[in-house]
Amino acid sequence: MCGIVGCAGPEPVLPILLEGLTRLEYRGYDSAGIALQTGSAVWRRRRPGKLAELVAVVDDAPEATTGIGHTRWATHGGPSESNAHPHTDCTGRVAVVHNGIIENYLALAAGLGPSHERTSQTDTEVLAHLVEDELAGGSSLADAVRACLARVEGSFAIAAVNAGEPGLIVAARRGSPLIAGRTETSGLVASDIPAILGQTREVYVLDDDQVVEVRPGSLRVTTLAGEEVTPVRRRVDWDLEAAEKGGYEDFMLKEIHEQPQAVAETLRERLLPDGRLHLDATTLTEDQLRAVDKVFVVGCGTSYHAGLVAKYAIEHFARLPVEIDVASEFRYRDPVLDPNTLVVGVSQSGESLDTMEACRFAKSPTNKARLLVICNVVDSSMAREADAVLYTRAGPEVCVASTKTHLAQIAGLELLALYLAQLRGTLYPLEIHALVDTLRGLPTVIERALAHEDEYMEAGRRFVDVRDFFFLGRGVGFPVALEGALKLKEISYARAEAYPGGEMKHGPIALIEPGTVVVAVATRGRLHSKMLSNIQEMRARGATIVAVANEGDDETAAQADVVLPVPATHELFSPAVDVVALQLFAYAIAKARGCDVDQPRNLAKTVTVE
Ligand code: AGP
Repeated sequence: MCGIVGCAGPEPVLPILLEGLTRLEYRGYDSAGIALQTGSAVWRRRRPGKLAELVAVVDDAPEATTGIGHTRWATHGGPSESNAHPHTDCTGRVAVVHNGIIENYLALAAGLGPSHERTSQTDTEVLAHLVEDELAGGSSLADAVRACLARVEGSFAIAAVNAGEPGLIVAARRGSPLIAGRTETSGLVASDIPAILGQTREVYVLDDDQVVEVRPGSLRVTTLAGEEVTPVRRRVDWDLEAAEKGGYEDFMLKEIHEQPQAVAETLRERLLPDGRLHLDATTLTEDQLRAVDKVFVVGCGTSYHAGLVAKYAIEHFARLPVEIDVASEFRYRDPVLDPNTLVVGVSQSGESLDTMEACRFAKSPTNKARLLVICNVVDSSMAREADAVLYTRAGPEVCVASTKTHLAQIAGLELLALYLAQLRGTLYPLEIHALVDTLRGLPTVIERALAHEDEYMEAGRRFVDVRDFFFLGRGVGFPVALEGALKLKEISYARAEAYPGGEMKHGPIALIEPGTVVVAVATRGRLHSKMLSNIQEMRARGATIVAVANEGDDETAAQADVVLPVPATHELFSPAVDVVALQLFAYAIAKARGCDVDQPRNLAKTVTVE
């Protein structure tokens, strides 16, 4: 997803921008560019491809102390130099970078006078021309940005410079993330904290439709109407070290190994002595939660898979009906919501536009549902929208493919299920205590799974040349199968389809032939014997079986060609353990194929377009 960084200060800005863009690489991008404010103009360089392509062409950059940079993930117009940001106006004195989509850009472009020449296929460029017109009418850059954005429909975070106003960056947001930062001598903007963490720990989270004027050593925030706003200041207490690889070959491997800690941190001090769940923020009363008669869980990708696990847990422990929706579909299908509905938004970033909009829809005056958000980024847009927030404390996740935040989400959702069970009296207190104890032991069980790393990796390397995989699971093993298949697809580009084991006979079994690889999640649980029957059906047609099976389960091992052993835990908590084997299985295949596991092609860490 696009990344923005900008700095106005006393020092040469080019290295600061390049460092910031490096820190944004994890978001996924396909071109990059910078614009530096010089005395009378804006100097600009853009390149498709990786950041190194841009770095190779900035040797002749002029000395400048104010500038903006961008990594672009293509939406409107392919990844080319002309579509890369920053975009300039006709005079070359205004430069704009943008994250998001300007939905009415065609209408806005049609309203531009004939003198304007557009040079890209992007929705963004129209902004530079609109600002140009406002400046020509005598506006300042800040007034021009405010006036233009009042006409824009869609989501955006933008930053702009004008050659005529040295030492000033004007930035704004609606729907897409943007933060500002400050030191004694410089002002900064970025779409994400790591981009400016090398410069400052003092950050300001901006709200929708706020405009920030960034100058050396100062920030001024206003609404689109120009009213002054005091932004909320926050001190960031994690450092760049935490976002580095820490000795591992890549972020993905590091983050897989951080999973026990991510789960332990998420569970830490969550359950108060009186049995209440400690949420990070809440305006919901216990009575309101007790009145909940239906739960919807919404999320995308890996977060959706964690939501699926929650469905099993909440229905079983709290005896509440749960619907689970891919967030991008939720608001388009007339779900029946009211104040007794609890909508749980699950998101690593707290910024995925699909999930964000699903959450907003749930809370809208028409629907009035209660909104609880589970996310990993403090003060994210979703967290600020919610009635209650439970932060997964997994630390920054850099690899585009989620791992540790997934396990932390499962832990948080399991806690929520137990809390709802306690409120509704569907379990005896002693049962809840026993379950909480088991949950607290989960980090140790995950450690034990990680001790099998070599076996998982070796198993993966056996299937480097396989093109098609099937992942099967039953009950709570089905979300594990889905997540295992997603990881393999994302990082190795193998085709992987996931099905509930019992569904294969209704059609997909036609694709099974000698040598087809079937990865079966076959740990012990209510449906274990049925899963074994499904494995038999695959074997009978010549499939090669890779089974995720409990340590010492010889019965299951006997049905498999390859075993990925995992330690046992409570069935409903087992996804947080079983998926570890599949993460490392996928990792080994991707590495053996020479893939960039941290930044897979076409993917973005945070998807802030619809
Ligand atoms: C996970 O490996 C993927 N990168 C992706 O599916 C991700 O889970 C999805 O885009 C949702 O992101 P979020 O959790 O930040 O909302």
